[in-house]
Amino acid sequence: MSWRDFWNGSHSIYVNARHRALHFDMIGKDIGALVPARDAIVLDYGCGEAGSAEMVAARCGEFYLYDTAPNVREKLRLVYGANPKIHILNYETLEALAPASFDMIVINSVIQYLSHGEFERVLDVCHAKLKPTGKLIIGDVIPKTSDAIGDTKALLDFALKGGFLVAACWGLVATFFSDYRKLRSSIGLTRYAPDEVLTLLSAQKFHAVRAPHNIGHNQTRMMFIASPKLEATGLP
Ligand SMILES: C[S@@+](CC[C@H](N)C(=O)[O-])C[C@H]1O[C@@H](n2cnc3c(N)ncnc32)[C@H](O)[C@@H]1O
Repeated sequence: MSWRDFWNGSHSIYVNARHRALHFDMIGKDIGALVPARDAIVLDYGCGEAGSAEMVAARCGEFYLYDTAPNVREKLRLVYGANPKIHILNYETLEALAPASFDMIVINSVIQYLSHGEFERVLDVCHAKLKPTGKLIIGDVIPKTSDAIGDTKALLDFALKGGFLVAACWGLVATFFSDYRKLRSSIGLTRYAPDEVLTLLSAQKFHAVRAPHNIGHNQTRMMFIASPKLEATGLP
């Protein structure tokens, strides 16, 4: 099984409904706060089930959701198909959008599942589809120094504050026997030193800085804010 198969399959990464609700409330608020303007056109790249899509859509002009997993897109269509501000893309419809379509693209908790080469290809697409004045947000990047213990601590802290500690403890036991844990130890997750991300972004024609906070509950992970280098956009 690959990460692609895993995300296209049925899995439960939330320990209960409260965990899921608090997770999406937090990432919805964090992404919403990054939206540059009320009329901004925003893309969530690798959006997953996008449980906070309505919250983010309310903060921007148009909200686009893109995910490689066909089953994820099918569920998104059922949930958000009737919302006129939310648009669900597949690779072909994303490719077909005009260059410089977006004011902001957010990629949250995705690049750990990609090889460096795949990440570079994603950055190429983002560079082409982002306006010269747009910004690219890359969140939940796992530092090289991080391990499963850091993620466990962050989850337990989130659960303690959120009132789902017992469920989180049972969830950790279930995770131990899950496909997620097996894939994490066999294929692994791609980790980055902060400078590696900045160097990669620079090579892909972005100026970038590391942000002081990450999207979501796990502050051991990193967020980067990037903008296209002006010399690479053809603007004076
Ligand atoms: C951990 S989930 C993150 C979902 C969401 N961004 C969030 O923060 O809740 C990772 C998602 O990235 C998607 N994904 C993985 N590789 C991708 C790629 N190359 N392009 C777009 N989506 C991808 C997976 O299908 C999965 O839904």
